[in-house]
Amino acid sequence: MLDHEQLAEFAERGYLLVPDAVPEHLLAAASRAVDGLEPPPPQLQGPHHHFLDAAQYPPLQALLTDSQAFSLAECLTGPGTLDVPPQVQVALNIPPFPHRPGMHHIDGAPHEPDGRPGTFTLLAGILLTDQLSNDMGNLWVWPGTHLTHAAYFREHGPEAFFDANGYPPIALPEPEQITGRAGDLLLAHYLLGHNIGGNTSTATRCAVYFRIKRTGHDPHWRAFLQDPWFDYAPFR
Ligand SMILES: [Fe+2]
Repeated sequence: MLDHEQLAEFAERGYLLVPDAVPEHLLAAASRAVDGLEPPPPQLQGPHHHFLDAAQYPPLQALLTDSQAFSLAECLTGPGTLDVPPQVQVALNIPPFPHRPGMHHIDGAPHEPDGRPGTFTLLAGILLTDQLSNDMGNLWVWPGTHLTHAAYFREHGPEAFFDANGYPPIALPEPEQITGRAGDLLLAHYLLGHNIGGNTSTATRCAVYFRIKRTGHDPHWRAFLQDPWFDYAPFR
């Protein structure tokens, strides 16, 4: 369960890191599955992603469904409200990659094959490697921008998503980097601005991401872009 302070933090900042949400045996099995994927091209530095059919990779799916992670996500939206996503992303960040993102983005641009923006309710990210300090391949986030983005879409209308193309022109606060240990769970609102960071450590960073929708999310994307709590009944 998430406590009141954690819920308040998510409401204000748009994300939350839950320590030690996934047990060691699930992490070990998932790491073996990642090791079995096609390796990145030699010499590659920086981000390298695998977007996979989750059903084909049970040890990756299990990070979400056999741990507390899925029920922790449902603490944000209400029990029984989320669909297990069909896709899993393995996100590697290979050093040396002395990159610093200049700005944020939101996912889902330009649009999905049916023409709707690729919105979803929340991102669940499970760290498979430690990232105890900054610049270890950490995800960057701009706290509170789930609210600023919603205000932008209220002012300009949800169709402004297409013109923004993933980069709504909002005022940005100082970014923060997500730090944590293997097994920690990141829960982030879809509307939270974020980006890929650099990696000046000696180790490849690995995180596994699930893009999760509330059941029935898709037709309501216009309302969801303007009301950040549309899919989050406990926050309404
Ligand atoms: Fe993204």
